[in-house]
Amino acid sequence: MVKFLNLQTLVLFSAYCAMFVTPLQSASLPTLSFDEAYSHLFGDSNLSILNDGKSVTISLDRRTGSGFVSQDLYLYGFFSSSIKLPSDYTAGVVVAFYMSNGDVFEKNHDELDFEFLGNIRGKEWRVQTNVYGNGSTSVGREERFKLWFDPTEDFHEYSILWTNNLIVFYVDDVPMREVRKTKIMGGDFPSKPMSLYATIWDASNWATNGGKYRVNYKYAPYVAEFSDFVLRGCPVNPIEQATPPKCDQALLRSLTTGALANKLNSNGRSKMAKYREKYMTYSYCYDRQRYNSLPSECAFSTREAVQLRRFNPVTFNAKHYHHGKRYFRKRENRIKSVHPID
Ligand SMILES: *[C@@H]1O[C@H](CO)[C@@H](O)[C@H](O)[C@H]1NC(C)=O
Ligand SMILES: *[C@@H]1O[C@H](CO)[C@@H](O)[C@H](O)[C@H]1NC(C)=O
Repeated sequence: MVKFLNLQTLVLFSAYCAMFVTPLQSASLPTLSFDEAYSHLFGDSNLSILNDGKSVTISLDRRTGSGFVSQDLYLYGFFSSSIKLPSDYTAGVVVAFYMSNGDVFEKNHDELDFEFLGNIRGKEWRVQTNVYGNGSTSVGREERFKLWFDPTEDFHEYSILWTNNLIVFYVDDVPMREVRKTKIMGGDFPSKPMSLYATIWDASNWATNGGKYRVNYKYAPYVAEFSDFVLRGCPVNPIEQATPPKCDQALLRSLTTGALANKLNSNGRSKMAKYREKYMTYSYCYDRQRYNSLPSECAFSTREAVQLRRFNPVTFNAKHYHHGKRYFRKRENRIKSVHPID
């Protein structure tokens, strides 16, 4: 396996990120054109580049979905895109903006996900985030959220900050989730270079109410638009993976001494707490059917628990909890339970 150097700058970068959840605004970071950052991945004819390469649409029709992938792999950094989701009837449709190295490390891949789950007419999209590290696919770390706006009406920014000990997911400039590396988590925390991906695909068998509502191609094509491509951090040349990544000094500076640093800790964490209390509909941290004790990286919040119980009373059922194994579901069911039920 390829070894990566632990650059001093990376450690510094991570140390700062670990102390504070910064309300990062990628508006202050330069954007790249599609051709500078990404390449077609699949469904070629259903990917269209617009606005002189500043934005791109990917679409799903009966024939195919489509997607694109970053030209570089990255070991840590800040990654963002503005996204406008398809409107109207979108049950069964999934739009994903994520990082992965599944094509390089088949058995022990890492992954960081934004998955947008379509819905029937009149019901909102849901955003699911997830983290896998070193092939930890048997341990799902899903959290699902509602949004405070209609994501089909306009562009909104979705961002991932990833360092060697902290991951933060942002919607616009609101941090919605942080994952801190703990000792127990070990390799489950992503720590190998990953590519960025954006895809749209047919997930009829699970995306909406656990597969109850399938994609209806009467409403196709489903078109998602991406723009404002920000990929900052430590790119790794896919061909020369053994050479150390070159980190983005400007980003590191802005985090340590620049404009981003001034926002340190101010209202980032309280914004996040408020967002989660109001909009989170599922968190694996509180799912006693899947995990019989609080996973080590989770911080228990009574308010979050009270909120989530309303959406998922079953997963809080103390009876099931105390009966332990007898009520512990089979693996297949647990995997199913990962999927949206709201
Ligand atoms: C998707 O590809 C098909 C086949 O090439 C094409 O007819 C269709 O217009 C494309 N859809 C979009 C939205 O670009
Ligand atoms: C990742 O998985 C590989 C193969 O299963 C294992 O050898 C390695 O020790 C793991 N790394 C970490 C950091 O846990």
